[in-house]
Amino acid sequence: MEYATYSKVNQESSDASKSDFSEDEGGSLLMSQQPKSFVARLSYAVKRSWWVAGPLLWLLSLLATWIIASVASKSPYDISVGLDTELELFKPHIEMYKTTFSSDLDWDANGTLWRISRPGSLQYVGDPSPEIDANWEDLTQGVAIDIKGPEAKGIEGTTYQKPDGSWFLAIEAFHQLHCLNMIRKALDVEHYGINEKDQSDTHPWRMHIEHCIDALREAIMCRAEVAPIPMEFNAKYRMARPAFVAVEHTCRNFTQIRDFMSQYKATQPLF
Ligand SMILES: *[C@@H]1O[C@H](CO)[C@@H](O)[C@H](O)[C@H]1NC(C)=O
Ligand SMILES: *[C@@H]1O[C@H](CO)[C@@H](O)[C@H](O)[C@H]1NC(C)=O
Repeated sequence: MEYATYSKVNQESSDASKSDFSEDEGGSLLMSQQPKSFVARLSYAVKRSWWVAGPLLWLLSLLATWIIASVASKSPYDISVGLDTELELFKPHIEMYKTTFSSDLDWDANGTLWRISRPGSLQYVGDPSPEIDANWEDLTQGVAIDIKGPEAKGIEGTTYQKPDGSWFLAIEAFHQLHCLNMIRKALDVEHYGINEKDQSDTHPWRMHIEHCIDALREAIMCRAEVAPIPMEFNAKYRMARPAFVAVEHTCRNFTQIRDFMSQYKATQPLF
């Protein structure tokens, strides 16, 4: 019974609005044949005044293109402008370029593999030498930085603050290079000695080096570069083997980032 009552009230109110509408606009609707829905009215207006609406729509589409383009250029997934998981301070110093890698192998005429490196390129591997160690030190820059003042914007409170007020933190790329250098040194334990406390361990660096291998595995998987590696037929193996031709890679300019980082190099190196 109650349901019927509500139903009746609704019916009455809708009837009432209908009749209000007919009284107010019914006459003009009949006279001008003007469509009543918004979209229909808009299209009617557009048809009548396309010379106004045309340029307006053109401007609107230009504006939409501009908005979409500027949003896209700020994508948090664009490595050329910096990711939202990276330090703001470094982003203006990110620069991309295409290059080939200088570290390579090649086959000699007898099908034996040799390590080759581009003439003039710095040495990072080989028998331990002060020169090689210095080259690595130049890359890693002590891994950590001190930042204070306005440049520490966004970092405050997220890391250790030194008594002088500067914020102390390490930068991932430099940590990764430090890790790679640890693995390199592990090839020559006799030369580099051991730096861990537990001398009873059969390989004292093992825990640290295993961490480094895992960290580099994740870093490489994180970037997941999909550049091609061409193959060629190898007479000795009678099968296709890597051709070791120079392949282009799209890179961040590491030197640029390293030079910027070195201005903030921590007063005490982390490692
Ligand atoms: C290839 O092997 C031959 C025969 O053993 C040797 O005479 C020659 O020097 C080798 N060539 C290279 C590039 O090593
Ligand atoms: C990378 O940056 C360094 C330092 O600013 C600069 O000297 C070098 O020319 C840059 N390399 C490329 C390929 O742009």
